[in-house]
Amino acid sequence: MVQMVTEFGVVSRAAGQGLIELHCINPRDYTTDVHRTVDDRPYGGGPGMVMKADILLSTIRAARAQAPLSKVVYLSPQGKTVDQAMLKGVTRSLIADGKDHSPGLIFLCGRYEGIDERIIELEVDEEWSIGDYVLSGGELGAMVLVDAITRLLPGVLGHEQSADQDSFSEGLLDCPHYTRPEVLEGLSVPAVLKSGDHGKIAQWRRMQALGRTSLRRPDLLDELELSEQDKKLLEVFLRQQESIK
Ligand SMILES: C[S@@+](CC[C@H](N)C(=O)[O-])C[C@H]1O[C@@H](n2cnc3c(N)ncnc32)[C@H](O)[C@@H]1O
Repeated sequence: MVQMVTEFGVVSRAAGQGLIELHCINPRDYTTDVHRTVDDRPYGGGPGMVMKADILLSTIRAARAQAPLSKVVYLSPQGKTVDQAMLKGVTRSLIADGKDHSPGLIFLCGRYEGIDERIIELEVDEEWSIGDYVLSGGELGAMVLVDAITRLLPGVLGHEQSADQDSFSEGLLDCPHYTRPEVLEGLSVPAVLKSGDHGKIAQWRRMQALGRTSLRRPDLLDELELSEQDKKLLEVFLRQQESIK
């Protein structure tokens, strides 16, 4: 399942160019019983199962042996919620600088009620959550992270700036985008985008990014120190919004 993330789009191209490598390890391969059991009943009783501690320990140690410079990250709803700023930092830490092994990440994906707490104490370096909701397994979380991190790695996105202009990269949401046709069901592309004036286009996009962030995610704006120019653009945007109402 997780390997599939390398079969499409940006991640597939990055894998094809050798910019990333993804190795999946199945805890079932480290079981010793005929049923290849990876879960067991919880101490103290109650519903659900827990991933077997000894099996996970062997699996994680096998992963560490393959990727000795990698942190073990347990995907967990109780972990630190990942965001773009954090992932940018993570991406920087993944850039290999001539070492024999590349720094990487080992994503530990839980199932059932989760994993034995002692595994966290013994082997987990960090716990990350992909949001305040509960998945049935960590695999989707790992796939989300592989995608989000890969697109930030140098050389992965064709146009060098495309990740810089995405939402959150400068603490703002992205501006709206348009392509052909020029008129769709009576709705026209904003005239400035057809003007050919790159200065005006850049200014309009900045204003839209500021305005959208203010309307949709004011919490993000609170974190920023806006320049005088940005404050003026935001005022113009908000005045325009008022006049539309
Ligand atoms: C059903 S969940 C276990 C939830 C656990 N009982 C709890 O409430 O904290 C099974 C697995 O899915 C993964 N998972 C669930 N929600 C997640 C989230 N928001 N972010 C990252 N991983 C998550 C974790 O690996 C977890 O071990």
